[in-house]
Amino acid sequence: MNTIIEILTEKVSNAFIICGYQDSFGSVTKSDRPDLCQFQCNGSFAAAKIYKKAPIIIANQVTQHLSCDPIFKTITVAGSGFINMELSDSFLLQYLDDLLSDPHLGIKQTNTQETIFLDYGGPNAAKPLHVGHLRSAIIGDALKRLAEVTGRKTISDIHLGDWGLQMGLVIAELEDRDNCGENMTISSHDWDTLYTIASQKSKENQQFLQRAREITAKFQKGDTKYLSLWQKVMKQSIKNIKETYRMLHVDFDLWNGESDAENYVPELIETLEKKHLLKESMGAKIVDVALPDDHAPIPPVIIKKSNGSNIYATTDLATIIARMKQYHPHEIWYIIDNRQSLYFTQIFRCARKAALISQDTALIHLCFGTMNGKDGKPYKTREGGVMKLSDFYQTVYEKVHERVSASAFSENTDKEMLSHKITNAAIKFGDLMNHRAKDYIFDLEKFTASEGKTGTFLLYTIARIHSLLKKADYDYERNKPVSIYTDTEKNLILLLALSNEKFELAYNEKAPNLICEQAYEIASAFSKFYSENHILTETNVSKKQTWIYLCNATKQILHKHLDVLGIEPVEFM
Ligand code: ARG
Repeated sequence: MNTIIEILTEKVSNAFIICGYQDSFGSVTKSDRPDLCQFQCNGSFAAAKIYKKAPIIIANQVTQHLSCDPIFKTITVAGSGFINMELSDSFLLQYLDDLLSDPHLGIKQTNTQETIFLDYGGPNAAKPLHVGHLRSAIIGDALKRLAEVTGRKTISDIHLGDWGLQMGLVIAELEDRDNCGENMTISSHDWDTLYTIASQKSKENQQFLQRAREITAKFQKGDTKYLSLWQKVMKQSIKNIKETYRMLHVDFDLWNGESDAENYVPELIETLEKKHLLKESMGAKIVDVALPDDHAPIPPVIIKKSNGSNIYATTDLATIIARMKQYHPHEIWYIIDNRQSLYFTQIFRCARKAALISQDTALIHLCFGTMNGKDGKPYKTREGGVMKLSDFYQTVYEKVHERVSASAFSENTDKEMLSHKITNAAIKFGDLMNHRAKDYIFDLEKFTASEGKTGTFLLYTIARIHSLLKKADYDYERNKPVSIYTDTEKNLILLLALSNEKFELAYNEKAPNLICEQAYEIASAFSKFYSENHILTETNVSKKQTWIYLCNATKQILHKHLDVLGIEPVEFM
């Protein structure tokens, strides 16, 4: 299904050709003066230069040619050659109806067979998730959904940090506690403190640190005893991580980790050696990735440290080999914060240089900024410590629950379930409405308010529509609207009919904030329409039918927006 802009551009471009000009001048955009018209074409000005004619002459010819087309209510020339257009009501209503009948709600599906591989989440096992893990999960999940809604196949991988010293430290600490037997038990309180205690101990006690290092080397080399301990810790850790992500309704297709890359390290080294890319530098093995026209120095990638151990970069490169072999993705996206930008530049250059990926596979770092507190610094606990992700969720949940408890709901309302849904919407919308690369300030009051640009407002709008539709007895197939009665109604219809285009744009720009923006615009337009009209008590049957139809259309289209944002709608609020 073509978007309205495409339909208009095709029509106007054809008219340019028929009038003797190039079709490229016929490009149509949304009007930048919506008070004057809905759409515009400014091509006559560029055409005027080529064809040495006044723009108004060209605009008049093209307009005259299109004036009888039933798609337009009006098509006129304004100023010295702008073509202004307004769509006819019948076209708008028909278009909206076609969009609603389309299983994809008019969202263009890519015709390429693309697989997008997404790397997000990335927590380190053996440590509790903290607020710093929030954005990667929410943004990664929304980007995955955006890729799917535009017809792409996706695979997501959490890429756990599970192979480093942090695991050795935790195992050493468990040994000290004599908690390594068959029935190793780690309570959730223990989980929260285990790594911190072990890490503190390693700073004060050299022997402990040495032992943790040895343990790390042992499980990495496949030592039976320590590999089995490692597996036990991993099992518990994954269970914990899953529980926290479940609160946010975030999941992953693959729960792989750095450890899964281990088998591909020999192949990585071999490839780098064969291509003569590996160099010795102060006992370490490195790959140069600097380019002559770099504005800032790009340091080499260290593949093996002087003590022979593999590091973060080794794992990421080996993981690329694994992903290419197993999934042949067309693109690999890394949804990881801004601070790792230089690192990914190095990794991507090294992967290309060594041809670890095929020519047409793109490696993309989709970075994001920090969630800050009101002081403009990374969000912390009241005492200034690192805040656990589950505590953060709980803080928002309590605020929401307090508000829900104070509202009058019927007795059998599951207030907890409702509060969880609102909490999710508040957190996700509050995060995603900002461009991902920017920092933003988390403001509990603002994010949970039912007015303004919030997830709560969106849920509220949907709940309102739901309750109205429940009361309305309506046959959508038989009662298709034939006229538009008011301006607010037309404004809403236009927004709905243009909504499909944004999904493609948001995908191309990897910008879920565009979906937030549009969802808010639609919900606001709906609120206006709803408050201006008494829908259920309207006595003019045809008017009432149009309005109910429109309520349903708004609900369907808003649902699609929420779906992409990973927010579950509610039926009442
Ligand atoms: N575990 C890493 C960290 O805590 C993030 C992993 C990101 N993903 C990756 N493929 N490097 O910083």
